Amino acid sequence: MERSLVELLAKKRDGDALSAAEIARLVQSYMEGSFADYQMSALLMAIFFRGLDDAETVALTEAMLHSGRVLDLSSVPGTKVDKHSTGGVGDKVSLCLAPLVAACGVPVPMVSGRGLGHTGGTLDKLEAIPGFRTEIASERFAEIVAKVGTCMIGQTREIAPADKRIYALRDVTATVECIPLIVASILSKKLAEGIDGLVLDVKVGRGAFMKDETRARALAEVLVRVGTRAGKKVVALLTDMDAPLGCAVGNANETREAIDVLHGGGPADLVECTLALGAEMIVLGGKAATTADARRLLAQAIARGDGARVFEKMIDAQGGDPRVVSEPTRLTVAPVEVVVRAPVGGFVASVDALAIGLAAVVMGAGRARADATVDHAVGISVCAKPGAEVGAGDALARIHVHAAADAAAIAERIGGAFVIRPEPGHGPSPLVRERLGA
Ligand code: URA
Repeated sequence: MERSLVELLAKKRDGDALSAAEIARLVQSYMEGSFADYQMSALLMAIFFRGLDDAETVALTEAMLHSGRVLDLSSVPGTKVDKHSTGGVGDKVSLCLAPLVAACGVPVPMVSGRGLGHTGGTLDKLEAIPGFRTEIASERFAEIVAKVGTCMIGQTREIAPADKRIYALRDVTATVECIPLIVASILSKKLAEGIDGLVLDVKVGRGAFMKDETRARALAEVLVRVGTRAGKKVVALLTDMDAPLGCAVGNANETREAIDVLHGGGPADLVECTLALGAEMIVLGGKAATTADARRLLAQAIARGDGARVFEKMIDAQGGDPRVVSEPTRLTVAPVEVVVRAPVGGFVASVDALAIGLAAVVMGAGRARADATVDHAVGISVCAKPGAEVGAGDALARIHVHAAADAAAIAERIGGAFVIRPEPGHGPSPLVRERLGA
């Protein structure tokens, strides 16, 4: 006889593995209303303490994925590959990465999120482009990916609705920090894009969701194993998020820096992150045999301006002003610039990504609550990255605000994010700490 839902709850509470059919029934019953919020909360807590094995995590991912619609990209030829970052400060990689990878022949369908707390979101950066729309119907999304090579949209109500409801419960039941639940949450949304391959950028460090390297590696390992068992090609890179990525923080500011990368410029760490992730995507997409070959293709796409052209076409297709790519000064910037100066000379030992991200939220560039709006024009530009030598009075950062009165407290906060030592340290930590996957 079929067990009742309460018996299934007791099964997990007692540490036994649930079958795929049982997990599917629990999620479906929750979505239909016959398994209540308080029962799902109890299940989440049981999972928090008892864990899920890989088969259960695959089953939960698939149950959440099939709670909504899987985008149909069968009309788009080729192996479709996306990237997902667990989020950080100054992480504008998607904006330059997707057009570059698409220019190398790999279609990139991308469903992105908004910033929350100290981490920024791709949609907010894209919406700094005048007219740009991130709400696009799924048929049009497939058309744009087929025609341009990439399209970047926001999550619709049809994509993994179970994740949205379960995440809201996790948020208020202290069950967010649970690796199988994080994996099912991330992968259910990504697999709904209709992709064949996924490259994960698992950030680790002060400004990351996972601050500890052991936990970040454990998350990356489960993401790769579960994604692979779900039938996708998956690679993960563990990348540094102790300091902000690149120099620009804030929406229009970050979009400008991503455009800079498309034109062959940009800070070294941002370029390296883009090339490292892009090379993995191109190999998964079957357009190069090795990451070294893929890097050559990416370098060519930058040098010939192919990535910039794809970005222009994508912006145009999504209702934005494509002229921002050749004329980035068209992007908004707040009128008052204040320079944060080094109090002493020496070497920058660290720049605290979390402190910079929180300062950006206070300035209005990020949101403390999911329903808040963001100011695209304000931003911070880090002038001295870890390892840099500075003299007393040199610029550590520049901030852009609407009024000088807004600046003093922010400038003090940002100054506090820099540690300056008299001796040179080891310089910046390597950007890619580890690679996991096939
Ligand atoms: N990001 C997600 O999408 N889900 C989680 O559970 C955590 C981070």
